[in-house]
Amino acid sequence: MTRIYKNIVILSGAGISAESGLATFRSENGLWNHHRVEDVATVEGFMRNPEYVHEFYNEMRPELFEAQPNPAHFAITELQQNYPYEVSVITQNVDTLHEKAGNKNVYHIHGQINQIVCFHCGKVFETWGDVHSDDKCENCGARGFLKPNIVFFGENLLYMDKVDRLLKNCDLFISVGTSGVVYPAAGFVQIAKFSGAETCEINMEKTSNNSLFDRHIYGKAGTALPELVKQLLGKIS
Ligand code: APR
Repeated sequence: MTRIYKNIVILSGAGISAESGLATFRSENGLWNHHRVEDVATVEGFMRNPEYVHEFYNEMRPELFEAQPNPAHFAITELQQNYPYEVSVITQNVDTLHEKAGNKNVYHIHGQINQIVCFHCGKVFETWGDVHSDDKCENCGARGFLKPNIVFFGENLLYMDKVDRLLKNCDLFISVGTSGVVYPAAGFVQIAKFSGAETCEINMEKTSNNSLFDRHIYGKAGTALPELVKQLLGKIS
């Protein structure tokens, strides 16, 4: 990272929250080793057994509510507060650790655990409490149409117009803590590259799309990201 960048985009995955004690998805003890994706993260699974899906996210909510940001999240706040140009965060995570750490311009493309949506009227509500399949929508009164505002496999991602603009204008793309196996997020690095951005990946290990990155920083996000932020801010002073 040899120069000053005007539009930095950070893509985060579950790995950025690992040092806050939250499980990732595909590690040996990951979420997808204890639950079938088909049952809790697809539209078909939700239509088949909505109460089972609500219970899965009801159990997840208290842990994510209690979780605290780690140095990786705080490093982004430090960058956003001290870097004179745009720094945006595209996150695959449904936790709110970026916001808890004070990050701005955060786009949750896979949704958020503390939101539910009524798929009868489209209204999105904030909640950290339990939700059940026969709950009534406070907006339209329909019963049985509330769903966690989590993007299931097969559904469209959120904020994609904004994400497309960010990727096409960025000159530095930093991917942190994602295995790079789930598209379209795993393909964001290619859009950034085609737009002329330098690309960097922070992970504990080699990832599926690592050949697409110009630079790799192997290590924990809580250590590597603060170090990278120090280098970026050092260019400014
Ligand atoms: N620091 C940096 N990277 C880490 C750390 C850490 N402390 N701990 C784990 N990692 C890395 C792992 O090496 C792995 O590459 O984080 C990555 C986590 O990968 P996944 O568990 O696949 O999570 P993610 O990439 O966010 O999954 C993407 O898949 O199931 C969907 O919607 C779900 O948003 C999720 C998407």
